[in-house]
Amino acid sequence: MTPPKLDRLAEPAFAYRKGSLQAEGVPLARIAAEIGTPFYCYSAAALRRAYRGLAQSLTHLPASICYGVKANSNPAVIAVLAQEGAGADVVSEGEIRKALAAGVPAARIVFSGVGKTRAELAFALDAGIRQINVESEPELEALSAVARKMGVNARVAVRVNPNVDARTHHKITTGRRQDKFGIPIDRAVEVYRLAAGLPGIEPVGIAIHIGSQLLSLDPYRRAFKKVAKCVAEIRAAGLAVRSIDLGGGIGITYREEVPIPFADYAALVAETVAPLGCDIVLEPGRAMVGNAGILVASIVYVKNGADRPIVVIDAAMNDLIRPALYDAYHPIVPLQEPKSRDIMIADVVGPICETSDTFAIERPLPVVAAGDHVAVGGAGAYGAVMSSQYNSRPLAPEVLVDGDRFAVTRDRPAYDEMLAHYRIPEWLKAEPQARGRLQRGAA
Ligand code: LLP
Repeated sequence: MTPPKLDRLAEPAFAYRKGSLQAEGVPLARIAAEIGTPFYCYSAAALRRAYRGLAQSLTHLPASICYGVKANSNPAVIAVLAQEGAGADVVSEGEIRKALAAGVPAARIVFSGVGKTRAELAFALDAGIRQINVESEPELEALSAVARKMGVNARVAVRVNPNVDARTHHKITTGRRQDKFGIPIDRAVEVYRLAAGLPGIEPVGIAIHIGSQLLSLDPYRRAFKKVAKCVAEIRAAGLAVRSIDLGGGIGITYREEVPIPFADYAALVAETVAPLGCDIVLEPGRAMVGNAGILVASIVYVKNGADRPIVVIDAAMNDLIRPALYDAYHPIVPLQEPKSRDIMIADVVGPICETSDTFAIERPLPVVAAGDHVAVGGAGAYGAVMSSQYNSRPLAPEVLVDGDRFAVTRDRPAYDEMLAHYRIPEWLKAEPQARGRLQRGAA
């Protein structure tokens, strides 16, 4: 029998040195000792490498990378990518504010999303961002009204739904006709014409996004071909198209997935979309940040489960919800390099009071014990951004490592700060004894 395969982290910026897992030049145990666990840790070198890898494969194309901020909106992370030249794809006023604060020029920001409010549209227009990707006729009309009132023109891309199944997890597939996103592609010409006729609206192009964690080029090929056909039809109707936004979606390695090579993706864009002579926008999120981040936790207990050991860690589904929400696989490795080859098969769980708070089932691990630290890999994308305070757990802090420096880029909130946001109404503040009497009286 071959021994079960142990997890490894896909990103070389996280590697063992002198027996201990480091982020670049910084031992993670040192950060843990300083700020406690759980915490997120991002590697600036890994972020830069991911960005440069994609950027270099695109040099022969008129393409801009607008980083999909939703994957990780920590302003320090955005700042690393902005310094590399990245723009931003944002989906809320909060993300516009973070992108601007991180140094992304407004002229490199595109605004996506199915439910932008008038206030958000006004904020985006006021900031002077590059373009707004509109997803419906009512949104076009709202934007027209807002732009007119402000006396400005809104540059708009019409997001079309190409009816292509990205064949990824059903919760993150976005380009099938029944999905809530965009305008059915067969109505694209009609809606583009409507946009061109609305005051305050300047249609500049077409946008798509078919899903996330794609591991095959086929759905992209089908979607890009449909986009090319759609652009030809709009032009045939006498309307100008100068920009095409291809969305994000490029998948990463969590376990043994083989990602689409950036060069292959670029070659497909060159073949299918570049001949249209448009500016091209890409919105990669996960592929820029996913493997550049880990979640570090401590083992609180190792308990004897009915079938196997259960490793209880101090991180939970409120910190990283992907396993609970998408049955996602995240590698788990100890910070202390294992000295023996002994293996334990265990479940790894968080402390939250529901069964879905489980990081791994029947996972082969090096033998670990209470007090040890572990790193959960592939946590740079859709990790901290999707965290909550469920079970009244303070949000985990986020650390950025850059060479042998590190900085806390989001603090762990104190319990007092957490409680400070709540108010108990005055009428409930009667003396507990009096309340007891009232209740007895009512009974
Ligand atoms: N552009 C648009 C319009 C999007 O909706 C998304 C992601 C992206 C770009 C970036 O996609 P990426 O390159 O990261 O695949 N929470 C899920 C993923 C949700 C993706 C939502 N949209 C997860 O943890 O897997």
